[in-house]
Amino acid sequence: MTIEAIDFGRLYRDHLAMTTRARKNAADWDARAAGMAAKALRSSYAQEFVSRMDLCGASSLLDVGCGPGTIGLAVAHRLQQVIGLDYSPAMVEAMRAKAHEAGMGHVQALQRAWEDDWSDLPQCDIVVASRSTTVPDIAAALAKLHAQARQRVYLTHLVGGHFIDPRIQEAIGRRVPSMPDYIYLVNILHRMGIHPRLDYIRNENRLADATDFADFACRVAWSVGGLSDDETERLRDWYTHTPAGEREGAPMHWAFIAWEKVPC
Ligand SMILES: C[S@@+](CC[C@H](N)C(=O)[O-])C[C@H]1O[C@@H](n2cnc3c(N)ncnc32)[C@H](O)[C@@H]1O
Repeated sequence: MTIEAIDFGRLYRDHLAMTTRARKNAADWDARAAGMAAKALRSSYAQEFVSRMDLCGASSLLDVGCGPGTIGLAVAHRLQQVIGLDYSPAMVEAMRAKAHEAGMGHVQALQRAWEDDWSDLPQCDIVVASRSTTVPDIAAALAKLHAQARQRVYLTHLVGGHFIDPRIQEAIGRRVPSMPDYIYLVNILHRMGIHPRLDYIRNENRLADATDFADFACRVAWSVGGLSDDETERLRDWYTHTPAGEREGAPMHWAFIAWEKVPC
């Protein structure tokens, strides 16, 4: 058997079907919009992402799963048109509000899902999908990003398959199978005839700045799809017996995947 025989899009879907993580919907993300708007735009993650982008010759950008505009707004002053897409109305509103506050009339935020029809959207020089590629059909998503870009595509996807350190999941008595990580994307792109540049971004995970146990438990519950009373008590035990600075577990590790359509 050779690698050509492997359908990596199908493998990704099969892997995703084996995970027990509850699929997030737009309302789940609505609940995170205010918190992300307050932090994500000034985060070291956003700086790391932007520092890896090349905007040479670019005037327009599409940001898919834009959240509060973490990437689109960070580079908007260097572009003439920025469009953010997100299925969460609160994220869309957060991006609009930030753009308005900054007087950026050339920024639009649209409520639109990965799975929706994008045929009315213009092709943009740069297309970005930052931390937003946990979708049911990644092969279709990558094809959409590629089709929508005139010059370059930049995305980040999870390395290692866990949004919460497996040690914390074990501490609460869960065995959470991994999510499909970035290696599927690299292989799917390879099958599309694309040989992407690969880099990595490490940043603090979102448990790191929890203010107290209630906040910590709330953040863990969001990620694992709720906590029972028993799991909350086990988590409290972990929190109490783990030194501050270690409770949040390993940092987040993102693969930064980039490719060009036309060298500039
Ligand atoms: C982790 S946040 C990332 C936000 C921003 N791109 C960033 O890096 O800070 C994931 C975003 O993807 C959006 N999202 C998730 N699934 C989506 C879908 N199927 N269609 C559109 N947006 C989606 C969520 O609403 C959320 O705003």
